[in-house]
Amino acid sequence: MCGIVGYAGVNRAVPYLLDGLEKLEYRGYDSAGIAVVENGALRITKTRGRISFLASLVASEHQSPATVGIGHTRWATHGKPSDANAHPHQSGSGRFCVVHNGIIENYLQLKAALQADGVVFRSETDTEVIAHLLDKNWDGDFVSTVRKATGQLEGAYAICVLCSDFPDRIVCTRWGSPLVLGTCDAGTFIGSDVTAILQHTSDVYYLDGHETALVTKDGAVFYDKTGAAIEKQPTRIAWNLAAAQKGGYEHFMLKEIMEQPQAFADTVSPRISADKRIVFEDFHLTDDDIRALRRVAIVACGSAYHAGAVGKYVMEKLARLPVEIDIASEFRYRDPVLDAQTLVIVISQSGETADTLAALRLANGRGCKTLCIVNVVSSSIANEGSSVIYTHAGPEIAVATTKAYCAQVAVLYLIAGYLAEKRGLLSEEARRAYVAELEALPAKISETLSQCDAQIQELSQMFIPLEHAYFIGRNLDYACAMEASLKLKEISYIHSEAYAAGELKHGTISLIEQGTLVVALAACDDVFSKTMSNIKEVKARGARVLAVSTAGHTDAMGEVDFRLLIPATDPLFAVTLEVLPMQLLSYYTARSRGCDIDKPRNLAKSVTVE
Ligand code: M6R
Repeated sequence: MCGIVGYAGVNRAVPYLLDGLEKLEYRGYDSAGIAVVENGALRITKTRGRISFLASLVASEHQSPATVGIGHTRWATHGKPSDANAHPHQSGSGRFCVVHNGIIENYLQLKAALQADGVVFRSETDTEVIAHLLDKNWDGDFVSTVRKATGQLEGAYAICVLCSDFPDRIVCTRWGSPLVLGTCDAGTFIGSDVTAILQHTSDVYYLDGHETALVTKDGAVFYDKTGAAIEKQPTRIAWNLAAAQKGGYEHFMLKEIMEQPQAFADTVSPRISADKRIVFEDFHLTDDDIRALRRVAIVACGSAYHAGAVGKYVMEKLARLPVEIDIASEFRYRDPVLDAQTLVIVISQSGETADTLAALRLANGRGCKTLCIVNVVSSSIANEGSSVIYTHAGPEIAVATTKAYCAQVAVLYLIAGYLAEKRGLLSEEARRAYVAELEALPAKISETLSQCDAQIQELSQMFIPLEHAYFIGRNLDYACAMEASLKLKEISYIHSEAYAAGELKHGTISLIEQGTLVVALAACDDVFSKTMSNIKEVKARGARVLAVSTAGHTDAMGEVDFRLLIPATDPLFAVTLEVLPMQLLSYYTARSRGCDIDKPRNLAKSVTVE
């Protein structure tokens, strides 16, 4: 959650810090701050509110010539968003200040011990203990002091530290939360993810857990967890800067919705061989392992969980393996039954989601085969799975995921087809047809987006005044209903619920009254008539129904008030198309309601806390 930047270079630091923070603002946006060393003292500017507010404050009072500095954008965990709780936090002596991403789990014990020594705390944050521990461990050596102080921390942290005695340098270290460094002619840049650095260099150094870096304008010296100096090799980032910019769109979310044909194609095509087989370089299960599998457990959070719900239906149908899906925060605390014949698939765009990471560690610890579907290269989840399959969605900036979800679903289709073939359940002919459909989908995604855009803009008008909405569907349509409902509530703040259409009559139908808006996802052929029966049930109670289906069902949809048609496709893949108008519906509704679409209230892009 929270974004960190650092710069040590030849130019003024403040503009770089503000620019980097703007790029990271999607990670957290309730308060922000920067610090530099000036005339032998730390100078900190921090405030509650957005980066733009910090920038105006800085413009009026902080024209610092310093060429080294650190910055932070916060998503509050310990303590409300306030000026005092904003980072950087300064030590009692005034010598150190620190910006931090993560959670210090033993901060209460550390705080009590520091207070017993007379230390006065000025914020409610866990981070402030780090600043005071730096004072306490000060031995005249910047790097060694940081290492000693962080040696007392339990939990997760990525930190950058300034010391007034060394105005030309930053020391940074991490455990559990990411930190990336890059060097170019202008100096050395630090970021909690590559989007803060990308415009300066594509060659970056990922700091491994417990490694420390001493950063100056000339580059970085790296130390391993024992404190020994080490050489690190840079990694070339494939993402380009344009991918992390709005490119003429009003919001990142709309741009990312429109990038889905590319995201799907880029994710699928490298995994299809010339003879139309599904191939994975990065799937480390042997054919014997696959045949020995007894079940699959898919674990994720939020939209990644909804992608997993699509994966469950497709995998069970094709590979005939029982598939359980779990919300990661439930999975990790429910003592799941796992063994070596269970394939645990974890899904995460950011690769940093705390609960998903903990679920992965649990599965690894129980001897399961683990496979991670991740978008951010070298993220914690990508590094810890026995296999990792990257979604090639490119950087996703909007908090509400669209293209990363689309790419996750693409990978799950690939895995389902792959497992089915290895288990002898997909004939040559069926496999070719399946792959052909996968390869045809990017064009159908484009077609759906352009076809339904105008109609959705019109339909969104009736959602604008709503307080409640319901999304219903069965099987794959239900998986889509969950995602559609989350998208709407997340960015438009309209309360919405997703229900398995057949389950409504067991209680929730009592909420349906005259005029209630129900969106019925009805693209699955084999349950279409069942969903239509449920539509009749809600209509009989006064609901207005918007149904989404394929053209083949037009006549049978006579009962509904509004219909939205998606292009014909194999029913197994229809969900990849029907979710698109739902994303647009959320977008246009939220826009008309004047919501902050790319940075919805209370949220952050990567959720690195429990
Ligand atoms: O980075 P992850 O895929 O692990 O994130 C999981 C969820 O936090 C995420 O999908 C969230 O639900 C999105 N904001 C939904 O749009």
